[in-house]
Amino acid sequence: MEKYVIKGGNQLQGEVSISGAKNAAVAILPAALLSDEPVIIENIPSISDIDWSIKILMRLGAEVKMLNRTTLRIDPRRLTGHQVDYDLAKNMRASYYFLGALLGKIGVADVSLPGGCDLGTRPIDQHLKGFAALNASDSVEGGMVHLETDHLTGGRIYFDMVTVGGTANVMMAACKADGLTIIENAAKEPHIVDLANFLNSMGADIMGAGTDVIKIRGVEHLHGTQYSIIPDQIEAGTFMVIAAATGGNVLIRGVIPKHLESITVKLQKMGVTVEEYDDSVRVIGSGKLQKANIKTMPYPGFPTDMQPQISTLLTLAEGTSIVTESIFDSRFKYVDQLRRMGADISVDGKVAVIQGVGRLKGAPVKANDLRAGAAMIIAGLAAEGVTEIEDIHYIERGYDAIEKKLRSLGADIRKITIPEEARELAR
Ligand code: EPZ
Repeated sequence: MEKYVIKGGNQLQGEVSISGAKNAAVAILPAALLSDEPVIIENIPSISDIDWSIKILMRLGAEVKMLNRTTLRIDPRRLTGHQVDYDLAKNMRASYYFLGALLGKIGVADVSLPGGCDLGTRPIDQHLKGFAALNASDSVEGGMVHLETDHLTGGRIYFDMVTVGGTANVMMAACKADGLTIIENAAKEPHIVDLANFLNSMGADIMGAGTDVIKIRGVEHLHGTQYSIIPDQIEAGTFMVIAAATGGNVLIRGVIPKHLESITVKLQKMGVTVEEYDDSVRVIGSGKLQKANIKTMPYPGFPTDMQPQISTLLTLAEGTSIVTESIFDSRFKYVDQLRRMGADISVDGKVAVIQGVGRLKGAPVKANDLRAGAAMIIAGLAAEGVTEIEDIHYIERGYDAIEKKLRSLGADIRKITIPEEARELAR
């Protein structure tokens, strides 16, 4: 088992470059199956969710070649199957994207129900509602979702709630459906726009991505492309909070400032200096952090994937802050870990009340999920003393070389490996 060991208190200084967006990449890789020719995808983050996506593509018969650390060539011309088993699907949530990609490509898909972060119930009923509108039938048996259609036809879908996964999945399948598909109450996240741009670069006909109505006119043929993925707004936001939490001065490079607006506004309200440039932002932590109230919302609102990180920062601010998690029904599990470090937070359902304590104390903690793990890193960097973080595999699902990037900013962080037998003894 591996752990991060962090000695807190350093003010992080310097520059960090942001990697490609995880939640764009995990949709774009399956979408590559829709092409009738090889595609080249650049600026892919080097994270374990991508490793699993590549394993699934290869299990389906696609030829995948790593041209360099962040560039893949995918040739989907000789698929041999349409099944994604639990042994692969259980490792990440985004395995559900192979439903839409395979349905669009060959009219049939068998994909195990997904794994991924435990944020409460995470059904896929809206995805299935969308596929049904495209004339596909579905059944769920033995944990496998089976989809099939003899003729994919365009349809009209009104999502009951904004769903990133549902929007992306239906958009993929609709690219090859006969006629016009209209998705209403669509997700507007930057990674939805990135997926639409990728599909359009292959010859798809998608209009309105980034608004709440997306129209897709099906096409016969999708050709090859060379496409570069957008920067990761959540990785960028996480480093913005790290700079603020350590009272540092960090230039975060290779970002799209517009994607960070809701985070920038909240940090400025807390007394943090954020300077925006064309493709970078500089964050300068101030001495005193002010309280703030946060409600997570679909884009362009404050992102739920930044909720654990900003809540950790608020434990260091003066006064009482309220954080409302309106997207997921159980995304405060990390609070117990923060309490071990001296945080004063009370949680009632979807609302957390945070009393600023000014300083946290290092302690052994664990990562409950990907963004909870990022919150533990933030807390450890800001705390007095040493923090050890277990279950860091969650963090490595979504952050490319995070310890190397942090060390380059002056953080005292290292990864240690605990031999299995030592773990047993420690129990
Ligand atoms: C995507 O998850 C992201 N994951 C999540 O990021 C992110 O938190 C979430 O979107 C919201 O932005 C990937 O892109 C791989 P949803 P997804 O469908 O698609 C409910 C991270 O940290 N819902 O937008 O699962 C659902 O339960 C991860 O990078 C249904 O009820 O999110 C949730 O309450 C964590 N039925 C809400 O909608 C459905 O069919 C939003 O979920 C679909 C969703």
